[in-house]
Amino acid sequence: MIRVSPDVDALNRSAAAFLAERARDAVDARGQFSLVLSGGQTPRRLYELLAGDAFRDRLPWTQTHVFWGDERCVAPNDPRSNERTAREALLNYVPIPPTQVYPMRCSESPRASAEQYESVLRSFFKARKPRFDLVLLGLGENGHTASLFPQTPVLEERERWVVDLMVEEQDLHRLTFTVPIINQAAAVVFLVTGTSKARVLHAVLEGPSDPRRLPAQLIHPSDGELFWFVDQEAAVLLKRVA
Ligand code: 6PG
Repeated sequence: MIRVSPDVDALNRSAAAFLAERARDAVDARGQFSLVLSGGQTPRRLYELLAGDAFRDRLPWTQTHVFWGDERCVAPNDPRSNERTAREALLNYVPIPPTQVYPMRCSESPRASAEQYESVLRSFFKARKPRFDLVLLGLGENGHTASLFPQTPVLEERERWVVDLMVEEQDLHRLTFTVPIINQAAAVVFLVTGTSKARVLHAVLEGPSDPRRLPAQLIHPSDGELFWFVDQEAAVLLKRVA
């Protein structure tokens, strides 16, 4: 499902309303809402909206559990940290119990950090199927999502839920959810804005299948829903939108 909004503000309000609705539905059905945040700059405005007067009280924060779908291997107070972005824009302003926020920390050993975060997920789900209620994703101009970068071995990982990788072009280690754990979610929401994403959005949604070059094409929830929240600028090249 592709939802095109006329501008970024309309897009973020639409996404915030959708997220609030999904959160309430999840709590009504199962008593909790498991939310996986994405990184980068695009979701910052959405996070600020969710923390603001219009939406803060529409989400069941005391029953919400927040995770990250990927993280850069930097200190938590580093400007590049996805955790820092989410805390500064959202988590510092909502009544979510600190024990329900699960930061993806990358120590000196990225491999051990990936294994450690996976153990956090496994103990969260216990014997239940690992099915997040909502996974938020962005889209890089090179077709990556989370930290699933083109032509990297992490794209083929089918057993582990969290892996580490070295992103050569950024000279940066990262941790990321793998395709299987993302595709087990009840809902996956891509948030894509701006003219800089128009070409890659068109390639991912309407171009030939080439998932090693465009890893976002690997995201298809096996028993869940896939939503693309995009603004008009990012959607300008799309031919097939409702
Ligand atoms: C990250 C993100 C990544 C991001 C895209 C888009 O840690 O970088 O998880 O997948 O969503 O790169 O980034 P922007 O929103 O900054 O364009």
